[in-house]
Amino acid sequence: MLPVLSVANQKGGVGKTTTATSLGHALALAGRKILVVDVDPQGNATSGMGVEMVATSPAFAAGALPDAPVPTSWPGVSAIPSGRDLQALATGGLASPTALRDRLARLPDAEFDAILIDCPPSLGPLTQNALAASSAVIVPIQCEYYPLEGLVQLLAAVRQSAAVNPAIAVGGVLLTMYDPAADLSREVEAEVRTKIAEPVFTTVIPRDPAVAEAPSHCRSVIDYAPRSPGARAYVHLALEVLQRSLLNGTP
Ligand SMILES: Nc1ncnc2c1ncn2[C@@H]1O[C@H](COP(=O)(O)OP(=O)(O)O)[C@@H](O)[C@H]1O
Ligand SMILES: [Mg+2]
Repeated sequence: MLPVLSVANQKGGVGKTTTATSLGHALALAGRKILVVDVDPQGNATSGMGVEMVATSPAFAAGALPDAPVPTSWPGVSAIPSGRDLQALATGGLASPTALRDRLARLPDAEFDAILIDCPPSLGPLTQNALAASSAVIVPIQCEYYPLEGLVQLLAAVRQSAAVNPAIAVGGVLLTMYDPAADLSREVEAEVRTKIAEPVFTTVIPRDPAVAEAPSHCRSVIDYAPRSPGARAYVHLALEVLQRSLLNGTP
């Protein structure tokens, strides 16, 4: 099975989509063939990579759909786009907690080196499906709120998913929108690094306007503003992901 990294946090606006897409692009630049799977009904990863949303979510479509991944204009990055039926699927409940895993297992071998899943801001059935399909979870934490309570809930969901996916691991907590001049950012960092038993990435993603601007141009920040602090941070994160062997399936 391919390494599958879910980017998950039940809170919105913490940098999940930015991380799934920018890390995906950075890993592609490091020579990996990457598939970004959008399971958020909002479809921000899909639109940010310049891909059209489709009617029926290919990530949960039953039956063989070997051609569902579509190319993006980002070299080395393909996408399984979000579907307009995803919200109905989420509220109606998905038939199986392993629907996404079963779907990804049908992808042709050797087409990709790794899969990144962009999760919606909830711990509902779509995120549960993503966790069931994952070798590791990346948890972005916005450095502007005290995150520990939410983190405890998410880590509990990860432990629950081990019932159907014993191989799952927390790949790392990622501090995002970090402002080195803000006391709160430094306090959140200190709290996360001292109180969390799970791995925390050494790489920190700074708050950077270029990161926020890139998706409206359907580009990754690494392409849009390669010398920006945000772009450099995501390239650094990709190196750390490789160093931590997260693409080998065993962190
Ligand atoms: N490092 C950053 N610096 C500045 N803006 C950012 C950064 N990361 C994300 N953003 C912006 O913050 C908003 C929320 O980020 P997003 O990745 O969509 O979060 P989520 O997927 O968790 O809801 C988006 O408008 C995004 O462009
Ligand atoms: Mg998002």
